[in-house]
Amino acid sequence: MQFSIAVVGGDGIGPEVISWAVRVLEVIGKKKGHTFNFIPLKAGGCAIDETGEPLPAETLEKAKACEALLLGAVGGPKWETLPGYLRPERALLGLRAGLGVFANLRPAALLPQLKNACPLKDEVLTASNPHGSATFDLLIVRELTGGIYFGERGRKQNGDNESAFDTEYYSRNEIERVLRIGYTAAAQRRKKLCVVDKANVLESSRLWRETAAAIAKEYPNIETSYLYVDNCAMQLIRSPGQFDVIVTSNLFGDILSDEASVLAGSIGMLASASIGSPDDALAKNGRPFGIYEPIHGSAPDIANQDIANPLAAILSAAMMLRYSLGMEQEACLIEKAVTSVLDKGLRTKDIASRESNIHNEKIVGTKVMGEAVLTELK
Ligand code: IPM
Ligand code: MG
Repeated sequence: MQFSIAVVGGDGIGPEVISWAVRVLEVIGKKKGHTFNFIPLKAGGCAIDETGEPLPAETLEKAKACEALLLGAVGGPKWETLPGYLRPERALLGLRAGLGVFANLRPAALLPQLKNACPLKDEVLTASNPHGSATFDLLIVRELTGGIYFGERGRKQNGDNESAFDTEYYSRNEIERVLRIGYTAAAQRRKKLCVVDKANVLESSRLWRETAAAIAKEYPNIETSYLYVDNCAMQLIRSPGQFDVIVTSNLFGDILSDEASVLAGSIGMLASASIGSPDDALAKNGRPFGIYEPIHGSAPDIANQDIANPLAAILSAAMMLRYSLGMEQEACLIEKAVTSVLDKGLRTKDIASRESNIHNEKIVGTKVMGEAVLTELK
């Protein structure tokens, strides 16, 4: 079968890491008889430089015709002084809203191979871990097209005292649909779902809790719990093993997923899927359209130096195969290839052990790491 995949390399290390994800998909395609047609598109800082706008209309239109969008990262110091509506980050928000990808799945697990890159002590990792093992495996489901990221914002001038505001705004439907994605994921995992909010203060969070309490009744096999976001931030570093699926708002999910990434060894390992509904206008073959991107940013300081970790981008391609193309087996092959290269001791700098190099690790660059994954797959 033929599939069209939109590709936005973007800025900084984005194009480098995405080029490895593309190569991995090509190898998988060849092996399994799928043809992926990659459609390169511009968004972010490089689009500003070329067209004057972060998200050219053509990018959005062409992406809509594809099965999925593979995205590197956008942004960098070069564009930081531009006004808000012209910043590269606008491209991300425009893509998320324009492509209707309301649920952002951010898995964070500590692979046994990367235990030495995790800053937590074993006794912290085992605390509240139902299996008593020094590890964790959680999934943050972040609402992605609502909340304070998209609510009304502005500035006011009161005499010489300027003020600014952003609004957290959620509808019951927005909360419900992302919760359902969370419950579906939890059903295939350890059957626990934690709703994270700030319901002791925010009215929008109280609506999250009410909505969750109603939906929870439809999923009696899933254990639903509730945490305030400040407590959750603490629990994540006190005992990450207690969590299975966390469902939360756009802003809280942004913050908590960065926190969780450190626990997993490095943000350079974490992939993400942002998906819409399997029956919206962009869904193809009954599968949701999705944006697949590593959660790390553009890291302009290490761009084009053969340092960046390509594994998060490669693992994002695996998520794309799983969620938007229904290729579970192919997704697993990629994930297995990644764990195999780690088993062999290959490490980019960001996932090297924190202690001295006593673990038989070999520090390699982007290219050697990428090639090693390809070799595993061939
Ligand atoms: C992320 C990023 C983005 C966000 C930025 C770059 C706009 O931090 O994907 O987590 O805040 O959503
Ligand atoms: Mg973020």
